Amino acid sequence: MRGENEETIFLKDYAETPYAIEKIELDVRIAPETSIIRTFLTLAPRAATAPGTPLVLDGAETLTLRSIAIDGLPLALTAYEATADGLTVHQPPTKRFVLETEVAVEPEKNIKLMGFYRSSGTWCTQCEPEGFRRITYYYDRPDVLSLFKVRMQADKMLAPVLLANGNLVEQGDLTNGQHFAVWEDPFPKPAYLFAMVAGDLGSIHDSFTTSSGRKVALGIYCTHGKEDECFYAMDSLKRSMAWDERRFGREYDLDIFNIVAVSDFNFGAMENKGLNIFNDKLVFAKPETATDADYINIESVIAHEYFHNWTGDRITCRDWFQLCLKEGLTVYRDQEFSMDERSRPVNRIEDVRQLRQTQFPEDGGPLAHPPRPDRYKEINNFYTATVYEKGAEVVRMLATLLGEAGFRKAMDLYFERHDGEATTIEAFIKVFEDASGQDLQHFQQWYLQAGTPELDITDRYDAASQTYTLELTQTNPPTPGQADMQPLVLPIQFGLIGPNGSPMSWGAVSGAEVRDDLIVFDKAKATVTFSGVPNKPVPSLLRGFSAPVKLTTNATDADQLFLARHDGDPFNRWQALQDVAMKLVVDAVAGKPWTDAQVGALGDALEDTLNSKELDPAYKALAITLPNDLAVAREIASNVDPDRIHSIRKQLLAAVVGRLAPTLEKVYLTNDSRLAYSPDFQQTGRRSMKNTALQVLVLGSAEGAATLAREQYDRALNMTDRLAALYAVVWAWTPDAEALVEDFRARFTADPLVLDKWLTVVATAPEPDVVDRMKAILAAPDFPQNNPNRLRALTATFGMNNPTQFGRADGAGFRFLAEFVGDVDKRNPQVAARVLTAFRVWRSYESVRRTEAEKALKSLQESGSLSRNTADILERTLSG
Ligand code: TRP
Ligand code: ZN
Repeated sequence: MRGENEETIFLKDYAETPYAIEKIELDVRIAPETSIIRTFLTLAPRAATAPGTPLVLDGAETLTLRSIAIDGLPLALTAYEATADGLTVHQPPTKRFVLETEVAVEPEKNIKLMGFYRSSGTWCTQCEPEGFRRITYYYDRPDVLSLFKVRMQADKMLAPVLLANGNLVEQGDLTNGQHFAVWEDPFPKPAYLFAMVAGDLGSIHDSFTTSSGRKVALGIYCTHGKEDECFYAMDSLKRSMAWDERRFGREYDLDIFNIVAVSDFNFGAMENKGLNIFNDKLVFAKPETATDADYINIESVIAHEYFHNWTGDRITCRDWFQLCLKEGLTVYRDQEFSMDERSRPVNRIEDVRQLRQTQFPEDGGPLAHPPRPDRYKEINNFYTATVYEKGAEVVRMLATLLGEAGFRKAMDLYFERHDGEATTIEAFIKVFEDASGQDLQHFQQWYLQAGTPELDITDRYDAASQTYTLELTQTNPPTPGQADMQPLVLPIQFGLIGPNGSPMSWGAVSGAEVRDDLIVFDKAKATVTFSGVPNKPVPSLLRGFSAPVKLTTNATDADQLFLARHDGDPFNRWQALQDVAMKLVVDAVAGKPWTDAQVGALGDALEDTLNSKELDPAYKALAITLPNDLAVAREIASNVDPDRIHSIRKQLLAAVVGRLAPTLEKVYLTNDSRLAYSPDFQQTGRRSMKNTALQVLVLGSAEGAATLAREQYDRALNMTDRLAALYAVVWAWTPDAEALVEDFRARFTADPLVLDKWLTVVATAPEPDVVDRMKAILAAPDFPQNNPNRLRALTATFGMNNPTQFGRADGAGFRFLAEFVGDVDKRNPQVAARVLTAFRVWRSYESVRRTEAEKALKSLQESGSLSRNTADILERTLSG
């Protein structure tokens, strides 16, 4: 049992519970202020359990025990002990028995939003990872699978809708205006997948017929009046269900699938069996208030939670160390879904940008941890970009190593072998070995080792012998708590391009395992030699970003610009442009300004890309999105001065715009459209192209661009165009900026989800008043102090996405964020800990800023008692 002291939980200590819970029946009386929960657990000692072994269940300070009985007989006070951590029955029966407890809980007071709580009048639950213990005494861990039945009772006026997992088996009216519903889930599950919802909700309904002909009733529940904003989510759900049948042969397994949108939620969404609960920002969409990015997120998170039904629910995790077993795999699946629904190259580039922006800094800083950690103090702090996004990259590498058919065969075996189990990463890898015949023991190290590998590839060509050579070097920098790093298995997809721009073939290869277009590099060093190469090729390396590494090469700018025009791999075409632009900025920051010829060459390549007939507008938009301030800071890595980076990057944009303005203006006009809004890939891409062109023009100070932005803001027919125009003026902080920000607030922020957009705009403004503005917003009497979306839209955005103001040399940005964390920690530790992770880059600043950041962190540490969540992040941030 976990005490007040900060204890570390270790993977090596894993042990089964001494008792199995064969069945759980809950009887929940829901009422304002106090709800009563009676729980009947059918418990059985396991074969190896010594008779009389105490039964130790998890609990929390939210529970008030009102009665306790075993097999119908109340327990004597000396027979058990209930504390703020849990419940111990000292000498349970030696054969199967029923433990009956009755507790009182107060959902309205539960502002941590873990367990049973109330959001805008709706009662709901969040149990992952350790919320169920805040509802009743239980083995609150993922390897205890049980059959759940729940009877809910409430006032019919207050809560006409009563939902839980599985199938509705009984419902009816009672006296005194009460009614009830009984839900039964036929699939055994761990407690973290339990959910119930009670409230006065609107809903939309539809159905999906599975490939075997079963009709599934689909429902989305929401605040009254929002029903018309749920249709895109419903459409995404149906497409997800069809896709999982097509791509993975996975059919839905219950007769009902419900989604509930709630306004107060700590994360994006939750995959409870048959009853997904969503942060409402990932459900509601209409063109006037949601952007294209919102639609894209809704589609992918609806898919993600739906896909968990097989990768997470039917097959779950043995313990929380295995979190990436379900999360990495499910992110991989949702990424593939969105690629199939939209565009493979565009989505791949966006996924990699996100990985580099969120996961690389984590992996390179004090909070680095392996996708499968071996210890934790607070599991909530491990729902990270490493577990999710790097976890997905590891699965993607498996797919690359096995090939499409091999991967599908392995996944089939995984579902066949582990259905109904709580399992581990080792078992997952074993499935891939058995299905493919490949030895994946070395590959498995990806799950066990933190840090981003550095891969250097240097090439040379020998004309006399017609041989072409690649020298590969892999470096694995040490990470907190891990000193002896091993080289990892890197699948490097590649191609050789001849002088005329077409693919080149070769004769024989030696020096590493090379399969067609894939080098499998698993050592610190290798020399790969290709014979029968008639001309010096330009190599296209790490195509599609086939391994999550930092790649350096000896390619010249000319090579890169050649790739930008000729590479058959769209990811590397994009990457080549990014590399050239990055080098110009990084060199200039180091005091070596670019030449006109260099900017000219980059500008020409960008112009050719914009004029290409074969590329999608969405792809072109990414091509002209040059590395942002954060990307440049990551590349520079130490002694970072964000102000200098910001101004030099802006100068580069101005230099590029100096040459490209006419083309960008043309692109702007040709992609402008007054068509009725649709969130499809084509229209989204055109808007993205148009709005990126506008933002580049404004940020690069093109003549008339600020006026164009203001006009677009005023006449916009949808939120995508309106917000893009607002960002253009805010990022450039044009003379209009202040007035437009205020206009947006006054005209559009009655809707809380649009208020979040305004808070995000305010938080990302690269100008010195932003800290004072944020303080005033937080101090306003009507600011919703307990809503995670509002809090994060302002503060997490500031910490993560406003490099110049968070990183102010006078420390005001650091102090603001540290003080906010100390304050919000008293209300919602999960939000506090998450916001605090913005400090993970603190050691990369130059010394003045580094000192200020450290001072702010230290004063948070001295400010008094912090939650386990925040103390854990703080301690690691300062020590790592
Ligand atoms: N399992 C959820 C998902 O990725 C994540 C999640 C939802 C979560 N709510 C949470 C994680 C609360 C921790 C705490 O789909
Ligand atoms: Zn998930």
